[in-house]
Amino acid sequence: MEEVVCSKEDLNPGEMMESTFGRHSIVVCRASDGHYYAFLNRCIHQGAPLSKGKICGAPEPTDTLGEYNFDREGDILRCPWHGREFDIRNEGRMLANEKFKIKNFNVMEKNEQVIVYK
Ligand code: FES
Repeated sequence: MEEVVCSKEDLNPGEMMESTFGRHSIVVCRASDGHYYAFLNRCIHQGAPLSKGKICGAPEPTDTLGEYNFDREGDILRCPWHGREFDIRNEGRMLANEKFKIKNFNVMEKNEQVIVYK
C-alpha cells in the first residue's frame, strides 16, 4: 500500500502538516536535512495530536556541568499537551527515554510528491 500524503512544496525544512495514510491520521515532518518523515498523529503519552505541537530544537549538554547548547533546530517534534519531545530523524524516539517512540512510517519522494508506504 502506498499513498501520496502531500506535495514536496507543501513543507519547508522545520515545518509539519497533518495528513492521512489509509484510515490513520499522520503528521508529515520535514526535518533540517530536507528529508520528509511521517508519524502517527498521536502522542504515546495521552494521545495528543502531534500536528498541533511544534517543531523545534533541544538543549544538548556540554562538557561543563549545568551548561547546555540549544541545538538541532527543526529536528524535534514537541507534543502540544505536556511537552514530550521526539526525535524526527531518529525514528520518532523520545528524547527523555529512547526506549519509547511514536509510530513511524516509511516515506519516499517521487517526482514532486511525498509518498508513505507499507
Ligand atoms: S499527550 Fe503528549 S506529552 Fe502528554
